[in-house]
Amino acid sequence: MNVMTRLATAVSLASLFPFAALAADAKGTVEVVHWWTSGGEAAAVKVLRELVEKEGFTWKDGAVAGGAGSAAMTVLKTRVVSGNPPGAAQIKGPDLQEWGALDLLAPLDEVAQANGWDGLLSKTVVRTMQYDGQYVAVPVNIHRVNWLWINPQVFEKAGIDQAPTTLEELYAAGDKLKAAGFIPLAHGGQPWQDGTLFEGLVLSVMGAEGYHKAFVEIDEATLVSPQMTEVFTALKKLSTYMDDNRAGRDWNLATAQVIDGKAGMQIMGDWAKSEWTAAGKVAGKDYQCVPMPGTAGSYTYNIDSVAMFKLNSPDDIAAQHALARIALEPEFQYVFNQNKGSIPVRSDLDMSQFDSCAQASMRDFQEADKNGKLEPSMAHSMATNLAVQGAIFDVVTNFMSEKNADPSKAGAQIYAAIKAAQ
Ligand code: GAL
Repeated sequence: MNVMTRLATAVSLASLFPFAALAADAKGTVEVVHWWTSGGEAAAVKVLRELVEKEGFTWKDGAVAGGAGSAAMTVLKTRVVSGNPPGAAQIKGPDLQEWGALDLLAPLDEVAQANGWDGLLSKTVVRTMQYDGQYVAVPVNIHRVNWLWINPQVFEKAGIDQAPTTLEELYAAGDKLKAAGFIPLAHGGQPWQDGTLFEGLVLSVMGAEGYHKAFVEIDEATLVSPQMTEVFTALKKLSTYMDDNRAGRDWNLATAQVIDGKAGMQIMGDWAKSEWTAAGKVAGKDYQCVPMPGTAGSYTYNIDSVAMFKLNSPDDIAAQHALARIALEPEFQYVFNQNKGSIPVRSDLDMSQFDSCAQASMRDFQEADKNGKLEPSMAHSMATNLAVQGAIFDVVTNFMSEKNADPSKAGAQIYAAIKAAQ
């Protein structure tokens, strides 16, 4: 029985009991479960909180620390099973379909129609936000995952004059950084961070088409191909540029190593930029963002979205609707995304108000979309359900922690793990 099946059974029991009414407030309360707890991300979510509170609603913060949200998702499932769902939670990608199938999510079509969401959002985004033809979540942003972050001062000290554009150049930069006494690649040894690196390498070695076959189609031939051996060989090589104390390190602490000049680079989605912004650093001057080497022209996307749970209190439902409406209004989209490192999810906003990394991200998103090179991020729950993602993470993380792991066997292990999880 997988987690969602267990959840479905438990939920049908829990639904025999009415959800506990939340404390009565003048204008209703919305509790929001999310995992935006790093300095930069907390500043971003504060924008939503303030706008909701400005309308007189009460915001109950349901932050659960832990990058990429696996801890938050565990808390969410426990709460739902015990009949105590929050009003809202960050739920993403195909996982929305699984929650939708449990009949727990509140439809947002009333808000969507009143505010013209269909006309504001791209088809890819609309498809992801709807279950059974109805909106069940509001998207807040688009993150790009395939980025390399660089501290140019560290590069200069190590005698590197250009950002790497291929894996060979990445290794060459790594060698120079190591020789100059820096940590070449800042990294946190957590399954989702390992997975983020891995998907970047798949995109680099196999291109958007191979990436799609591997993570969207779960194509056996691609997963066990010689190219996958190449990916794992590259992963092994990249680990030699990381420091030995990386186990368990949070992503934002890895980002801080690059900001502080201890490390030269980090491969991470553009929430990493939220830390640079919070530290008062300027894109293109204090730091550089370039596509993960070998992936220029392709774009792995990660859309953050907030889903609402069915509640009984009309006041609390009004608070949910206010949150959903505010999340797509220009005022929120500008300030939130400037803080979060992402780009607005609506395409009609003035990008001159954003830094050079965000402008590049928007351009590359549109370009990749046109050229069929826009792909959902596996490591950030956009390509598969969480069970399949977890199976991939297990193999990748084990591979990275075993010195003698064989790159030519790992692809077959992934395929077998996925099949067992499906
Ligand atoms: C992603 C999420 C981002 C960011 C990141 C690190 O999955 O979409 O918004 O929070 O995890 O925690």
